[in-house]
Amino acid sequence: MTEQQRIDDLRKILEEHNYRYYTLAQPIISDFEFDKLLEELILLEARHPELHDPNSPSQRVGGQVTKDFPTVKHRYPMMSLSNTYSREEIEDFIKRISKEIEAPIAFVCELKYDGVAISITYKNGELTQALTRGDGSQGDDITANVRTIRSVPLKLQGDYPEDLEIRGEIFMTLSGFQKLNEDRLEAGYEPFANPRNSTAGTLKMQDSSIVAARPLDSFLYFVIAPEKQLKSHFESLEAATRWGFKVPQPKDKYVTLAHNVDEIMAFIDYWEAHRMDLPFEMDGVVIKVNAYQQQEALGATAKSPRWAIAYKYKAEQEATLLESVSFQVGRTGAVTPVANLKPVLLAGTTVKRASLHNADQIAKLGLHIGDTVFVEKGGEIIPKIVGVDVKMRPINAQEVAFIEACPECGTALIRKTGEAQHYCPNETGCAPQIKGRIEHFISRKAMNIEGLGAETIELFVDQGLIGDYADLYDLEASQILNLEGFKEKSSTNIIAGIAASKMVPFERVLYALGIRYVGETVAKKLAKHYKNIDSLAAASIEELIEVEEIGERIAASVHQFFQNEKSLSLLQRLKAAGVQFAIQEKKAAGNQLANLKIVISGVFQNFQRDELKQIIEDYGGINVSSVSAKTDLLVAGDGMGPSKRQKAEKLGVRIISENEFISLIKPE
Ligand code: IVH
Repeated sequence: MTEQQRIDDLRKILEEHNYRYYTLAQPIISDFEFDKLLEELILLEARHPELHDPNSPSQRVGGQVTKDFPTVKHRYPMMSLSNTYSREEIEDFIKRISKEIEAPIAFVCELKYDGVAISITYKNGELTQALTRGDGSQGDDITANVRTIRSVPLKLQGDYPEDLEIRGEIFMTLSGFQKLNEDRLEAGYEPFANPRNSTAGTLKMQDSSIVAARPLDSFLYFVIAPEKQLKSHFESLEAATRWGFKVPQPKDKYVTLAHNVDEIMAFIDYWEAHRMDLPFEMDGVVIKVNAYQQQEALGATAKSPRWAIAYKYKAEQEATLLESVSFQVGRTGAVTPVANLKPVLLAGTTVKRASLHNADQIAKLGLHIGDTVFVEKGGEIIPKIVGVDVKMRPINAQEVAFIEACPECGTALIRKTGEAQHYCPNETGCAPQIKGRIEHFISRKAMNIEGLGAETIELFVDQGLIGDYADLYDLEASQILNLEGFKEKSSTNIIAGIAASKMVPFERVLYALGIRYVGETVAKKLAKHYKNIDSLAAASIEELIEVEEIGERIAASVHQFFQNEKSLSLLQRLKAAGVQFAIQEKKAAGNQLANLKIVISGVFQNFQRDELKQIIEDYGGINVSSVSAKTDLLVAGDGMGPSKRQKAEKLGVRIISENEFISLIKPE
């Protein structure tokens, strides 16, 4: 097979797996296998720049930077929907249509997705352009960003038309949004207000590789200018499904065909009761006349078609009392106000607290203790206060004042100009900051130290075993064993977990340091650019800003970190402990496992299986899947099958534990 053929094959295979994973949610290979194939493709494409294809699956990681998105006129205007909160008006809509056109009339009922509208063009089955709605007649060309959305096909399947424009919605699932906000908070950024805002913001980012890292999803549900063989909207949904789009499906009850008012109302009722169970946000139901001929007969006004209408649900809102406001201090010292409410039932759960974000938010609402406030459930798990019933305010009610001193350590709070958040500046003496930084350091996406959690860290700090994250590397099992509740095994496991973290790659170490505004993505960019901590530490603010996607705020924060004596001494100690402070040129990790054929089996304390396989390769080993006479090593995790062990023993294959494996590859 020529390399060109292999590239073609890999592109097809990867796009197929991508489709299975993101559109059908039925993957058939592991992430690890997928990554291997992708790596192979990227390597081959690098060798053959002449075979570049903007719709290759390798392009989904982004990388293109667009300074200004060009404005492009829509071929057909992107109209809006007339909408109503009244069921009566829905009945009127159906009556009016029944008068104007001849029976039988079928309606398609759909959800009204609360995302960002998109229009995507395909020529000969290849994605060529993606436009935002803009003002309806022209939108922004955000093609590079849309290419990174995994559920948007780059190439179509089956009987697609030569020229196709399809419309729909880009959105974030609630869980994706929640995680994104947690990451942002962890990195010291303000969280996004709701999934829709964060989707809109993401789609307008200049660097498509950042877009690629955001959890964007799609529903495409509106085929424009379809070929003549499609006779109705419902048929077009079926066709779009065949072409490989992620289309809302009848089996999920996201769409249905209805033939009369009762069936339409049943759909509205069903989703009124179940909307809170959906994994994404929606704010209503859309009712469309199904047959294209009938749609044409009904026509459109200047703004919206006459053959469709949206019924909007009222936001779930309840009134309750604001009892008090507490203030929480995070790892970066940011102080967040939280409203304590009289418990109230809202959309099926009891609500006791609401986030207030910052001082501006409190001022904007004009909050007083004892106020009757309206709480609403949005995309966040914690609901928000959307208004105050001023008429209900008790006389002499105290206006909510933002605290001036840290509730944890008493230090006077500061608020930098232009920033919404108050901070406690006592970085090294304020308990939640100390604990928070260590918790961040050990967290899964940072040093991923197994066996340690928030409670253990709290205990270690309170017992004076550690005061910062560098202290972790001086810990001894005997010290832990002295504490209540720790046994021999758990103590040695913690020490092994800490030792294993010395192999965590530099980019994650950089993230683990907890430099304000240095989240996962920024840490990756910086690690890639500077290669090691010393050149990063030596960079000036101006130099840092030169790095893609690094703005003034991040640059200043990074620079300041390396000016601080305390951070420098922390780094010194981590370095001495053997933590990775330079990127590993792939093959250079070590040759401790050179040419050893290794089988891994069971579940491991310190690694995901895929991670372990990667480490084996990085140290020159060869992963094999089953034990044979040629196998050199069997790394035994928890729950390894007894038959595997017997076979290895019979064949004389050396069996080692996870900890023995770690000591095998220890740099010496
Ligand atoms: S149909 C001519 N169907 O609502 C109408 N729109 O107000 C074309 N939307 O820009 C749109 N869910 O972003 C349609 N099931 C759905 C929808 C939907 C959400 C949004 C879409 C559109 C806006 C129109």
